[in-house]
Amino acid sequence: MTYDFNSRIDRKNTGSIKWDLMYKWNPKVDEGVLPLSVADMELFNPPEIYEGLIHFIQEKPVLGYTRPTDDFLKAVVSWQEKRHNWVVNEEWIINTTGVVSAFNAAIRAFSNPGDGVIIFKPVYYPFSSAITSNNRVEVNVPLIETDGYYTIDFEGVEDAASKEENKILLFCSPHNPVGRVWTKSELERLAEIAIKHDLLVISDEIWYDFVSPSYEHTILHKVNKNLQDKLITCTAASKTFNLAGLGTSSIIISNDKLREKFSYEVKRSHCNANNIFGFEATRIAYNECEEWLDYLLELVYSNKKMVNQFFRDNFPLIKAPISEGTYLQWLDFRGLGMTNKELEDFLHENQFFTDEGYIFGREGDGFERINVALPQDALKELLERLLLALKQADK
Ligand SMILES: Cc1ncc(COP(=O)(O)O)c(C=O)c1O
Repeated sequence: MTYDFNSRIDRKNTGSIKWDLMYKWNPKVDEGVLPLSVADMELFNPPEIYEGLIHFIQEKPVLGYTRPTDDFLKAVVSWQEKRHNWVVNEEWIINTTGVVSAFNAAIRAFSNPGDGVIIFKPVYYPFSSAITSNNRVEVNVPLIETDGYYTIDFEGVEDAASKEENKILLFCSPHNPVGRVWTKSELERLAEIAIKHDLLVISDEIWYDFVSPSYEHTILHKVNKNLQDKLITCTAASKTFNLAGLGTSSIIISNDKLREKFSYEVKRSHCNANNIFGFEATRIAYNECEEWLDYLLELVYSNKKMVNQFFRDNFPLIKAPISEGTYLQWLDFRGLGMTNKELEDFLHENQFFTDEGYIFGREGDGFERINVALPQDALKELLERLLLALKQADK
């Protein structure tokens, strides 16, 4: 099958958060400009999903309260096995209305107000708000950045984990926004620390299907058997197949007691109000859309390489080391010496709509996160537009 990864889709007035933000930031947007912020794709979903959902609705299902079907669960299990070599039991799966609602629920289930939750900033900003809005204490162990390459501060983690009041590690793998795909040995070391200090680990692996060639995502659950009883793994088809609007995620917990406790909190806070179309779209995606994903991964990698080369050739003050995972690129603008506000205003004025690095923590000051899941020619035009603006501003 051939897939359309080239059309520019006009999502104005469709309720797209990314598009509404773009017009809020700059009401005058030229024809053909696409936003590069929020992590959904400026690409059509796989045709199998549109066609499958049309067929589904033509069968006139009653759109009532819905539980996961056996076929849905089988599809989730089969995806873990075929793409991640991970054998999961259907009973381990709990469905929530999203990964963000799942890690919020997990924080409430496994800690008390005032307890510490460890995170590694810069990190996906809802990690921080999940901690503070549930009245827990954020314990930030910043990633170590060396020439654009990020690593975990294991000594810092050991120190934070050894404190009695710190109960949970909320971990992002692969890492949003810096794009690291953690190696097996990094994960082993982290698992050892967690086990030694009896931390509960919430491993958000929503990006696990996006790794650049020559990298491999390791499922944390497979790294150390002794961690499995204190581990919650968050997965979804929403990033992989652009289904975020359907609010469906699969949280995988092998320990019965842990799962029961999590499940209780999920029900109590009603984040199991599942979506009938979300189940069906996920089932179709996992069963029928692997080929589409493989083409998408080529586009994402090709776009990352293009961004990297573009800055190296034309404007080396901005650094864009190719990210190892996700469909995000972390761009280092620090060489321009602008404040966050100056940089943000400059980019918005020049119609380059990114996620500002500082929203991921102070460690993101001077950085921008761009989303490269969009047609290549549209991305190229945006880079050229930025270059022109930088030159005109004498940067
Ligand atoms: C690390 C991470 N977790 C979770 C989410 C969102 O999950 P959901 O839409 O299922 O709540 C995102 C979205 O970008 C993400 O980057």
